[in-house]
Amino acid sequence: MKVALLGCGTVGAEVVRLLHEHERDLTARIGAPLELVGVAVRRAGRTRDLPIDPALFTTDALGLVKRDDVDVVVEVVGGIEPARTWLLEALRGGKSVVTANKALLGEDGATLHKAAAEAGVDLYYEASVAGAIPLLRPLRDSLHGDRITRVTGIVNGTTNFILSSMDATGAGFAEALEEATALGYAEADPTADVEGFDAAAKAAILASMAFHTRVTAADVHREGITEVTAADVASAKAMGCTIKLLCIATKLDDAVSVRVHPAMIPRTHPLAGVGDAFNAVFVEAEAAGQLMFYGRGAGGAPTASAVLGDLVAVSRNRLAGTHAASESAYADLPVRPIGDALTRYHISLDVADKAGVLAAVAGVFAKHGVSIATVNQSGRGNQAVLVIVTHAAADRALAATVAELRALDIVRAVASVLRVEGE
Ligand code: NDP
Ligand code: HSE
Repeated sequence: MKVALLGCGTVGAEVVRLLHEHERDLTARIGAPLELVGVAVRRAGRTRDLPIDPALFTTDALGLVKRDDVDVVVEVVGGIEPARTWLLEALRGGKSVVTANKALLGEDGATLHKAAAEAGVDLYYEASVAGAIPLLRPLRDSLHGDRITRVTGIVNGTTNFILSSMDATGAGFAEALEEATALGYAEADPTADVEGFDAAAKAAILASMAFHTRVTAADVHREGITEVTAADVASAKAMGCTIKLLCIATKLDDAVSVRVHPAMIPRTHPLAGVGDAFNAVFVEAEAAGQLMFYGRGAGGAPTASAVLGDLVAVSRNRLAGTHAASESAYADLPVRPIGDALTRYHISLDVADKAGVLAAVAGVFAKHGVSIATVNQSGRGNQAVLVIVTHAAADRALAATVAELRALDIVRAVASVLRVEGE
């Protein structure tokens, strides 16, 4: 089984190492040896401490992909282009593809799936969501007899590290990000992680698979964690909650809803205990009930583990002259806007401490049809802090309520607005 590897960075180098270290086991499990025939990188002359012939390195990724003798292309470069061009060339040329590229799958998975189906080859991408955690194949295979109703996940390790650190130490966002960068969790440019782009791409992949519907990252409502303050974290603690960046994909009667945003969850929720840079995904299905998948969502070796698992599967398929079922998008459900999502809000207001304030604030909630679950007031001289938690309401109504509260004279500041999930 001849393998072309595109990329030899954090993940690719571990793929090379595992291919070498596990050579005998892999051969036995597949029924044929895996032979690495080329490794495409940006800097072919760079010294790399890897157990392969340096002559295998090339900067000509497209040339490598086009080689007639290649059976499987493994892509661990990332980004939309040129990765899409390489993978389409591979698939159209009859090669099976294994990729960890969530950005590409989240943006344009449909084009890749179509090319794979037309060529009758495999497209596997377990490593693209939640790194080492076996998640996509359970969704695609084990749960195919069931109906998934909701997927709630912590799918970004960097933001989970930052929020866990804020929760543990009381630090603000900037300080926690600095720590994450110093420890190598956050990249030099952390935008994709902290603004939720990475999680949105993964949410699109998960929702597509769970609901048999094409969802792209552009369909996903996305909010990052840059606005989460130490005061928000303290408020969450006071309520017995912690704050997590969640991806939430829900099956509605005739549509799906997919969103990524920070939210308070009760400390008793299975996702609340997921600390450090770990990932976890909570799946709810009609017959199976609640399932939890937990593990390392990033890092060279954990991600390479998922890549190797895919490589074994597609190699076995090729040897057997077969391929896995192609993309299942038959349900073709529309994606509802965030305004339709049913959510609960935790709102903290700085208000004047005088007669009629509570009634005026409550009146705004009533006007928008939002039911209040709890109100807590603490005094500060002639000012007060009102913490209001709502019952579930359409996100649109909650957003309109907050906008109107901001405009009230008696409201000095809307100190924080966070969604509450998991109850
Ligand atoms: P790195 O940046 O560490 O490595 C990228 C590799 O791609 C490098 O070897 C680089 O070459 C090569 N490369 C970049 N541009 C080109 C080009 N134009 N032509 C040929 N080679 C090129 O990335 P990671 O290993 O971290 O990530 C790889 C993929 O895995 C991405 O899709 C990422 O999203 C995904 N992923 C990563 C995880 C992680 O923890 N790192 C976790 C889950 C998924 P050179 O070595 O010469 O610079
Ligand atoms: N940047 C990602 C994270 C890598 O922090 O989870 C894994 O996809």
